[in-house]
Amino acid sequence: MWQKKWILCNWKMNGSIAKNFQLLSAVKQTQPTATYIGIASPYPYLLQTSEILRDTQIASGTQDCSRFKTAGAYSGEVSAQMIADCGGTFTLIGHSERRNYFSENNETLRCKLENALNASIIPVLCVGETLNERENNQAENVISSQLEILKGLNISQIAIAYEPVWAIGTGVTASTSQIETIHKFIYNEVLSMLCKDANIRLLYGGSVSAKNVQEILTTQYVDGALVGGASLKADEITDMIVSIEKL
Ligand code: 13P
Repeated sequence: MWQKKWILCNWKMNGSIAKNFQLLSAVKQTQPTATYIGIASPYPYLLQTSEILRDTQIASGTQDCSRFKTAGAYSGEVSAQMIADCGGTFTLIGHSERRNYFSENNETLRCKLENALNASIIPVLCVGETLNERENNQAENVISSQLEILKGLNISQIAIAYEPVWAIGTGVTASTSQIETIHKFIYNEVLSMLCKDANIRLLYGGSVSAKNVQEILTTQYVDGALVGGASLKADEITDMIVSIEKL
């Protein structure tokens, strides 16, 4: 899977048992083999997702995990161990919505990252700048400080999702040259922190659709996509998977 193109679906706070069943049945029918597909569902639906996707090559995962290491008195929290126990194999970490609405900082995110790794779950670290930061030429500085949480980690593979905040849910996609520039920057930054032959998967997220996914995924330094809104529509996501399988 570390050599394949990736499409991760971030359902955010959407879904119901009935809707998930329909959506997952459609995704399952695409029978992807060349693409690594993952569904990041809300916590209560993780077991349902894992169950439906059992015996397929499609992974189930979550959008976050707790910063607390061990089980205990942390009301409302869901540990990385619990995610693994329910069949989750990956989790997003540091999505901009969590950084924004829950004030998640590097210290918190480092704990989450370590907890995911200790539970053998793949952490997908999300980074990206706001419009204001881009306009002030701060994009690379912001991303560089977001990536600092990787320092000193003894890992040989990591997935990073570049999601410019201004492209999330807006219908405005970053241009392929903007994506390539930032992905190249991220690649070099991450490589300088990990071992030389580290396997790095760089995903782009922000208004990815069936229309633009091929162009984005054939851009240099792009190994996959993190898809929000379009991943909730059966037609869009299945079209997307089918077109990536052909690449
Ligand atoms: P959209 O695809 O809806 O822009 O969302 C992107 C995203 O935030 C995925 O994590």
